[in-house]
Amino acid sequence: MARRDTVMRKPKDTRGTLRRMLRFLGPFRWVILGVACLSLVSNVLSLWGPNLAGSAIREAAAGKGLVNFERVAYYATLMLVCYLASSLLGFVISLIMTVVSKRVGRQMRQSVFDKLMKLPVGYFDRHQAGDIISRVSYDIDVISTCIATDVVQILTSVVTVVGSVVMMVSISLPLSAVVLVTVPVAISYTAWMRKRTQPRYAKRSRSYGDMNGFVEEMLSGQKTILAYAYEDKVDERFDKINQTAADAYADAEHYGVTIGPTMSGINNLSLSLIGLLGAVLFMNGAIDLGRISSFVLYSRKFAGPINAIAEIVNELFSALAAAERVFTLLDEQEEAADAENAVELSDVQGRVEADHVVFGYDPGRTIIHDLSLTAEAGRLTAIVGPTGVGKTTVINLLMRFYDPDSGCIRIDGQDIREATRRSVRSAYAMVLQDTWVFNGTIFDNIAYGKENATMEEVVAAAKAAHIHPFIMRLPQGYQTVISEDGGNISKGQKQLLTIARAMLYNAPMLILDEATSNVDTATEREIQRAMRELMKGRTCFVIAHRLSTIENADLILVMNGGDVVEQGTHAELMEKKGFYYGLYSAQFE
Ligand SMILES: Nc1ncnc2c1ncn2[C@@H]1O[C@H](COP(=O)(O)OP(=O)(O)O)[C@@H](O)[C@H]1O
Ligand SMILES: [Mg+2]
Repeated sequence: MARRDTVMRKPKDTRGTLRRMLRFLGPFRWVILGVACLSLVSNVLSLWGPNLAGSAIREAAAGKGLVNFERVAYYATLMLVCYLASSLLGFVISLIMTVVSKRVGRQMRQSVFDKLMKLPVGYFDRHQAGDIISRVSYDIDVISTCIATDVVQILTSVVTVVGSVVMMVSISLPLSAVVLVTVPVAISYTAWMRKRTQPRYAKRSRSYGDMNGFVEEMLSGQKTILAYAYEDKVDERFDKINQTAADAYADAEHYGVTIGPTMSGINNLSLSLIGLLGAVLFMNGAIDLGRISSFVLYSRKFAGPINAIAEIVNELFSALAAAERVFTLLDEQEEAADAENAVELSDVQGRVEADHVVFGYDPGRTIIHDLSLTAEAGRLTAIVGPTGVGKTTVINLLMRFYDPDSGCIRIDGQDIREATRRSVRSAYAMVLQDTWVFNGTIFDNIAYGKENATMEEVVAAAKAAHIHPFIMRLPQGYQTVISEDGGNISKGQKQLLTIARAMLYNAPMLILDEATSNVDTATEREIQRAMRELMKGRTCFVIAHRLSTIENADLILVMNGGDVVEQGTHAELMEKKGFYYGLYSAQFE
């Protein structure tokens, strides 16, 4: 079936969205106006066709055996020219609208992408990547398609409907009456059917969504499924979901397919009535054959857009709903601009203090209750504590991904809230647990943060991160291309790559947030040693699970319940026999 699978998704604010969409089309208003004019000409030409056909038939019929062939040929040729010109114009119109829709789509994508770069970190914590991606790709596609096809269709429909009515009425009032009775019947029938099929289509697309989700889940968990010998159960569940989807499909189609034939039934009924009435009028000499045939052709022309109207309205609403989702994203609160008089941090020494910091992601749920810490410049500070205690949150605050609710954080005595975000962030090199590599060579991935990095520098960083020997074993060495998901190297190797990247990035401070969790203990310790060497005079924050690897830190901050509960060196903390002692002992039991 050719029907585009559009489930009616109404925008919440139809008018507002429409107005905004028109503003988006603003730069193209002259083009669109031109297209409207062309469309008018094209449709008037094609509307003239039936009239000419009628004239040709009248000429043929009038001759009573002696046909004036020249006249007939004249009308027929004129008709051909009209239809040809109309089609040609239609082609040009489509071409222009495709270009317009391409431009609008591209511009929208650019706006959305620019916006994404300006949104605060919190937005991405709250929204699923899949949802954001579908706005950039699917939603904007729906909008472009609507601009490319529906706009022209609407213009065409209006001209055709109005033109046909005018022509039909001018040809014969009684015949027009027939059309005016049957058309409302057809319209109410489709409206009624739509109402019944809509929920079925919605259900169908929901059950398809469920099925997609299930398949996705299966693909991502394939190894686990095999390991737990869960194949049969998964298969059984899929069978059920598949059955539901198939039923929903059949149910929707069962209703959907009746619409077409019923509509042609109604149209044909109307045609028969026109034929009947036309014959009566003809016998009374009230109308000639040519006019009857013109009328029939006009009534067919008229029926086309009427039958399609529900479809177009549907698509229009879907496009507006998509536009609304895109606009919602464009309206998201951006990361607040830096204060007018914000200072640029420069020449950072690396003394970091937190002073009675209180913070929670959501109001009413405080994560950090009262955090105070001091990390001296050039020292290695380790943050330890149970999972979920707020270690990463502290890093988020240090980097100013979030601002504290109260209290303050200072770098070299400067409150970072009074500094530009950019300068605060570039004071740190950071490696996270979720390593990020991009599609490019190993060299490019390591050199990411440093412009014009030389091969020597990259190799030095790779050696410090203990990844150099592995890279040399690859057939293309540093020129090996890593795929986007990093599928061709292991998790641990990816982590080492990102550590090498951070070491090369010339920042006065370094943060490793469980960045070595996929690396063996010995390598982890080696890396920290190399890091101290490389980062001499620079402040390092290390969050590590394996306490054995941070024994040599200058300062260990022990967190629990959102606060630093103990701090000191390894020896001091062990002697204290407190919380850290408990954690440490537990790892060696
Ligand atoms: N973006 C977020 N929005 C809301 N809550 C969050 C967010 N990130 C983390 N949390 C919550 O904050 C707490 C501390 O998390 P986190 O700092 O990641 O812990 P850790 O790194 O110590 O394991 C957890 O309870 C977690 O659920
Ligand atoms: Mg964490």
